[in-house]
Amino acid sequence: MSGIVGYIGKMQAYPFLIEGLYKLEYRGYDSAGVAVQCPDGLKIIKTKGEISNLEEKVGKNLLAGNAGFGHLRWATHGKPSEINAHPHRACSDDFALVHNGIIENYLQLRQWLESEGHRFISETDTEVLAHLIEHYYRGDLLESVQEAIKKVTGSFALVAGVRGEKDRLICARKDAPLMIGLGENENYISSDFAALLPHTRKIHILEDMETALITASAVKIFNSDCTVLQKKAQQINWDVTSAEKSGYEHFMLKEIMEQPQALRDTMRGRLLDGGKKIDLSSELNFTTQEIKDFAKVFIVACGTAYHAGLVGKYLMEKILRLPVEVDVASEFRYRDPLLCENTLVIVISQSGETADTLAALRLARERGHKILAITNVVGSSVAREAGRVLFTYAGPEIAVASTKAYLTQLLALYMLTYYFAQERNLLEQKQLEKAGESLFNLPAQVETILDREKEIPKMADYLSRWENAYFIGRNMDFAVALEGALKLKEISYIHAEAYAAGELKHGTLALVVEGIPVMALATQNAVLDKSLSNIKEIKARGGYVHCFAQEGSEALQNEVDSIFYLPPAEDVFLPVLAVIPLQLLAYYTAVARGCPIDNPRNLTKSITVE
Ligand code: G6P
Repeated sequence: MSGIVGYIGKMQAYPFLIEGLYKLEYRGYDSAGVAVQCPDGLKIIKTKGEISNLEEKVGKNLLAGNAGFGHLRWATHGKPSEINAHPHRACSDDFALVHNGIIENYLQLRQWLESEGHRFISETDTEVLAHLIEHYYRGDLLESVQEAIKKVTGSFALVAGVRGEKDRLICARKDAPLMIGLGENENYISSDFAALLPHTRKIHILEDMETALITASAVKIFNSDCTVLQKKAQQINWDVTSAEKSGYEHFMLKEIMEQPQALRDTMRGRLLDGGKKIDLSSELNFTTQEIKDFAKVFIVACGTAYHAGLVGKYLMEKILRLPVEVDVASEFRYRDPLLCENTLVIVISQSGETADTLAALRLARERGHKILAITNVVGSSVAREAGRVLFTYAGPEIAVASTKAYLTQLLALYMLTYYFAQERNLLEQKQLEKAGESLFNLPAQVETILDREKEIPKMADYLSRWENAYFIGRNMDFAVALEGALKLKEISYIHAEAYAAGELKHGTLALVVEGIPVMALATQNAVLDKSLSNIKEIKARGGYVHCFAQEGSEALQNEVDSIFYLPPAEDVFLPVLAVIPLQLLAYYTAVARGCPIDNPRNLTKSITVE
């Protein structure tokens, strides 16, 4: 989730570009850069790290010019470095381009462009776009952009400029946000409203496969057939702070709502042909023999990432029939863990900087084990040291309570499991295709749950009046219950405990008193009867049960106080769906209690100390 800004008009471009980059800072970044149409050419200045580093580098260098664009990079392909920072050039210094998104077929395109004589200097997918546009350039930048985007698969929001066309900037988008703000003899471009609102409230939001030609005095928007569209700009009345949160009151809710997109971005280029094929071979770089030789999996992580690992255990043991151990990193590192030969160690970390997780990774490496990291941050310590990485593409997560990172960690574990199942010949082609298609359908199913957000505040209102709550579930539901309880604790400060439903009667049932809220996950149809018995045990003691079950589990309806139905799927995929109402429940409960949701007391996003 990089950030893009652009300006063309009567003023100098650079001051807006810097100001706009600061406004987009919250999107996360590892490098920054600007390109300005100066009298002596299209000048680019970029640098790794903070925006202030960029300002320092620009220093007294006069970037004088009335058109330009800038970029904050959140690395996806290629580590954070000056060379990989945007803007990118093509072979000639005349072209410059900034891009947000992921070009899936960049390797094929790069090979083809290299065979055509193009020379690449960065590791990014973006540079391919710059060369592609150069390749098709015949004196009209708009046409070459329109031609180039037809050749790419994946997602993009881009702004391009060429030395010979100083009076215009060209934009395009697909599956990544880009908008154009209208001024008086000046126009602005940005990834989101935050950079535009201080200057204008008249805004065009580009739609997928639209391109735009922007001059100081006009904006022309074209559809995918290159026909001009008569679009009316929208009047946006948000304030700047809500603009950063896309109009949501908190980053946490925004991030919950971004989950379908985060899933789609994470499966992009990996789940092919509607899910029929899973290909992780180039990223993981394991030989089939290596995959066949794994005798055990050890998953190590902290917090929410640990909970994702617990889902992974149920999944891998079921599908791969391999023993899987899961440990919190702070325990793993000091308990002299038994890592037998051919153990694959998987470390999961959103930030890639958690000190305990990093120490666990180093311990496993010292012992000579193969390590695979699942992380959201390219260039993080975990990503650099693991050797092999399966990145999640959740984009920067700002709320302390993790939501979209967790969901993409789950997806990464599912893709890994079925990929291993394929390489180990454990499933028939038909079964693999079915599983892949189920994964492919998850974003749409998550969307249907999010559409029913309004059902949650009522449940939350009840919960918000209690100081204790329980979460129960069997099998994979237990792993999800742990995450549900953690979310509630973190942001609402309600004491919440999660139990394997069958374990409740061994002690905790003594705490069930009249009215106490119990969140009962009953999504695993294979153990539905057993879950129902546990629910009855609670009801018999006066507990108040909010149930979460698959559509079609109507038998539960009369046994519980409220029920939230999830879209039906094979049991194994339910964790991805079941956690969504639990995230929303934690969120709305914290809202009802007036808690500081994005920054809960005593907690921080990334714990880089022991
Ligand atoms: C902190 C955060 C949690 C997160 C945990 C692990 O406690 O508040 O949300 O799950 O660290 O972080 P990581 O970046 O390693 O996933």
